[in-house]
Amino acid sequence: DKGGWPSFMAKEVTEQPDAVANTIRGRIVDGVVDVPELTAFGDEALSAIRRVIIIGCGTAAYAGLVAKYAIENWAGVPVEVELSHEFRYRDPVISDDTLIVSISQSGETMDTLMAVKYAREAGARTLSICNTQGATIPRESDAAIYTHAGPEVAVASTKAFVAQITALYLFGLHLARVRGSLSADQIGEQLAELEAIPAKLSSVLGVGESIRTLAHWMSDTRSVLFLGRHVGYPVAMEGALKLKELAYIHAEGFAAGELKHGPIALIEPGQPVFVIVPSPRHSALLHAKVVSNIQEIRARGARVIAIAEEGDVAVLPFADEVIRIPLAAPLFEPILAVVPLQLFAMELSTAKGLDVDQPRNLAKSVTVE
Ligand code: F6R
Repeated sequence: DKGGWPSFMAKEVTEQPDAVANTIRGRIVDGVVDVPELTAFGDEALSAIRRVIIIGCGTAAYAGLVAKYAIENWAGVPVEVELSHEFRYRDPVISDDTLIVSISQSGETMDTLMAVKYAREAGARTLSICNTQGATIPRESDAAIYTHAGPEVAVASTKAFVAQITALYLFGLHLARVRGSLSADQIGEQLAELEAIPAKLSSVLGVGESIRTLAHWMSDTRSVLFLGRHVGYPVAMEGALKLKELAYIHAEGFAAGELKHGPIALIEPGQPVFVIVPSPRHSALLHAKVVSNIQEIRARGARVIAIAEEGDVAVLPFADEVIRIPLAAPLFEPILAVVPLQLFAMELSTAKGLDVDQPRNLAKSVTVE
């Protein structure tokens, strides 16, 4: 039931504040993070983990890439992120102090299932992040943290993505507590940031109207580029994936730092480029580097659509459009910055008269390798 929305996707995008709130529920008790599902491993084994490998496909893999920055920062454990199908077929080095974290909304993606089975046989511990109760991947794993995003019907993943990041962040903070890599106060600060996200998501959904106008205006665009740095980089790739899937437009996400190593050659007058701008309040350096990237592409005629936090005026002279997101700590910005990109893909698909919920050639759950 679309509940009065024009599409399941429109409904699911607006359910994102609840998806995050429901995924947090019961996992922060009296200001302490405690993910009950992780007791399956025992604190000792969790402390002994030397390496985390996150595996998934598509949007799930991008959620993993976002979480890599956070988990390494908080828990001090090296985290790699790999596409399930690449991991499975390259003889990866795995030992019993390796934790494999698989991410899958459906819990049925064959590429990810095969990778989990392979890792288990090689002696790794396996944790599944899944949105579907009783699905195959969580059953084949040592432990599962369910995201509580609710059923996702639209083929393009939206609320599952923000719920996956939420679950991975809870995992990272739980790991930091068990390992003693952060103090209780430091963990408390991050938890407060996480608990503030649902309200901020509700507020960012207010950009819908201006995104619709932008999408209508861009409905004959043939190519869109997305740039991001640090945690904004996986957000850029997710924005590009959404646009490919939903609007059948060539789209690519780049790390902003890569521009001068090749992609800047693509910039010609009129080329639309979304840029995810990191907060200047936390890293003036990171912010300045992205603003300088914006100047470089603008000088070559790019049409810049900046996604920037409230009050960041440095982008104003160089951006054609600025879409505002609420203030958040850097590691939490991706959960907010992705929303305008989801909405843009949805509105562009609608503007082109396409089926938002059922894009051509795609299935919700990919159960073949
Ligand atoms: C993107 C999308 C796909 C899935 C991918 C993994 O919008 O829907 O990229 O994210 O096929 O699916 P799950 O999470 O079910 O393993």
